Amino acid sequence: MSAWQKTNWRSKPRVQMPDYTDPAALAAVEDRLRQYPPLVFAGEARRLKAQLAAASRGEAFLLQGGDCAESFAEFSADTIRDTFKVLLQMAMVLTYGAKVPVIKVGRMAGQFAKPRSAPTEVIDGVELPSYRGDIINELDFTPESRIPDPGKMLQAYTQAAATLNLVRAFSTGGYADMHRVHSWTLGFAGGEGAERYRDLAERIQDTIDFMGAAGIDADTTHEFSSVEFYTSHEALLLEYEEALCRLDSTSGNWLAGSGHMIWIGDRTRQPDGAHVEFAKGVQNPIGLKCGPSTTVEDLKVLMSELNPENEAGRLTLIARFGAGKVGDHLPRLIRAVQEEGANVVWSCDPMHGNTVKSNTGYKTRFFNNILGEVQEFFAIHKAEGTVPGGVHFEMTGKDVTECTGGVRAITDEDLGDRYHTACDPRMNASQSLELAFLVAEELTALRRDRQTRAAV
Ligand code: PEP
Ligand code: CO
Repeated sequence: MSAWQKTNWRSKPRVQMPDYTDPAALAAVEDRLRQYPPLVFAGEARRLKAQLAAASRGEAFLLQGGDCAESFAEFSADTIRDTFKVLLQMAMVLTYGAKVPVIKVGRMAGQFAKPRSAPTEVIDGVELPSYRGDIINELDFTPESRIPDPGKMLQAYTQAAATLNLVRAFSTGGYADMHRVHSWTLGFAGGEGAERYRDLAERIQDTIDFMGAAGIDADTTHEFSSVEFYTSHEALLLEYEEALCRLDSTSGNWLAGSGHMIWIGDRTRQPDGAHVEFAKGVQNPIGLKCGPSTTVEDLKVLMSELNPENEAGRLTLIARFGAGKVGDHLPRLIRAVQEEGANVVWSCDPMHGNTVKSNTGYKTRFFNNILGEVQEFFAIHKAEGTVPGGVHFEMTGKDVTECTGGVRAITDEDLGDRYHTACDPRMNASQSLELAFLVAEELTALRRDRQTRAAV
């Protein structure tokens, strides 16, 4: 049994966390949360870890996506269903291209706390503390709204529990049945992604019919009637994480009970900081965001701290450098991983290095830069002979106008139409599908390449 304690992070330097003003109110919330059931079971986290281990070897592929920040105001069955549906569609497209299992992980049911680039925000000469996500304070630009309120953790827990409940119901209750692959196209707004998806759905239906004719009963096959779907979020608000941390009686190890996978953000990955300290001691799969400022030395320390046993599937490195910059950073980090002989999943987040301010004043991302970063990621792994193991997106099933470009081109002027995100700009359903087809093409090329090499 390790000496790690779930409270150890409290003696480490912490960044990006709120200073609660009422310690008694905070303590009362922590007490309540400690009594609440965990949201996930340790066996699920271990199962996800085993699947990620396969992704590290190129035998599976990780699809992680969802909101930048989940919001209390946008909480509804429709929002959850739409995001879940697009993730399933994307997974279908990727499975078809990659011919390996796609591991589906939502940025859902806990993705509430946000790191910010500045501690305060100034509008028309008025300076207020920054908004840090609905689990901490409120988006409205008033002094009261921006005061951190520990009570929001209880609302976040309740929303996470209800979200996870619906997602579990969809996953096994028939919604995700592959026979419905066609019906998931209903409500498509159109666009090339939708057309291509309909064609793909037809091919999948043909395959299912063929299997039926050949005597393989897809109606009763578990793999066809349900999906495994996991949750993830940035473990930023450590009071919340600690209160939901549980000792797993089966293994004697600690579990972050707040979600299946947690990640450490690019701003909170200091090797001697509070966030790394917390993640070290829980058995969940851990993601680590790697931005341009990630040094080879830090990465080596972080890998040995976060994964001392070098367990495959434990650590996913989520590269987020920005289009045009992947070549400056990814090769040196890949080599650091190789020098250490470390087992990692390499995933690509083409969102967070590509945020810009549009001419119309909105925070946005150009769809072509998102595509570009994904292509650079695949090209570099090809050149280095390493495995591109997954992708990490900010997207929603709603028809929002937050990222510009795509086949149904959204312009700077369109951004104001349906700009709903509480934080970073997300891809809409059509942009998400378009991107999935591109990733599928990359994966198909990779598979063909491997087959050619195996044949000679
Ligand atoms: C995020 O994933 O929402 C995020 C803030 O990412 P990063 O830490 O990579 O900036
Ligand atoms: Co974000």
